Amino acid sequence: MRIVVLVSGTGSNLQAVIDAVAAGDLDVEIAAVGADRPGTYGVERSAAAGIPTFVVDFKEYANRSDWNTALTQAVAAYDPDVVVSSGFMRIVSAGFIDAFGGKYLNTHPALLPAFPGAHGVRDAMAYGVKVTGCTVHWADAGVDTGPIIAQEAVSIEDSDTEETLHERIKVVERRLLVSTLASLAAAS
Ligand code: GRF
Repeated sequence: MRIVVLVSGTGSNLQAVIDAVAAGDLDVEIAAVGADRPGTYGVERSAAAGIPTFVVDFKEYANRSDWNTALTQAVAAYDPDVVVSSGFMRIVSAGFIDAFGGKYLNTHPALLPAFPGAHGVRDAMAYGVKVTGCTVHWADAGVDTGPIIAQEAVSIEDSDTEETLHERIKVVERRLLVSTLASLAAAS
């Protein structure tokens, strides 16, 4: 199973995938890693691991439609079976998802459909829930919507800050992403 992983930030979830592949625990080929802006640590660490990388810089396009077209072409060049949004902080078009047969996997640091959007951890804390978690799902063109594949709960402690809670969620999120990819690869 060939995957292309999209990142906007540090890519620690991506690193878990890279490590699992290197350890022989995950039978997927990371065909490429792409970002929506230059200078991400996610791209830097991929390049260091010898993985092809690309950037389709959102700011270089006149509008979202042009950027979506360019992103679709850049990803399609690697002919992936599955595209993974791993901390990719931009909504892609339905056309992008259709181009990859709907196989666009996303991870989110909350128990969807609760707390979608860019601040899932902060919003869960602000609401005052005592349990949140993470979700791996097939993404559609909405904001963190689409069929859920796997979820796991994480308790919120009184002493948590957004950072400490997010770090604990990400530990679980990395495991869930790797195990979901392993299941998809086994079924492919
Ligand atoms: C993850 O929690 C992801 O769900 C969210 O941003 C975080 C990305 O972390 N959208 P990293 O870049 O993989 O470290």
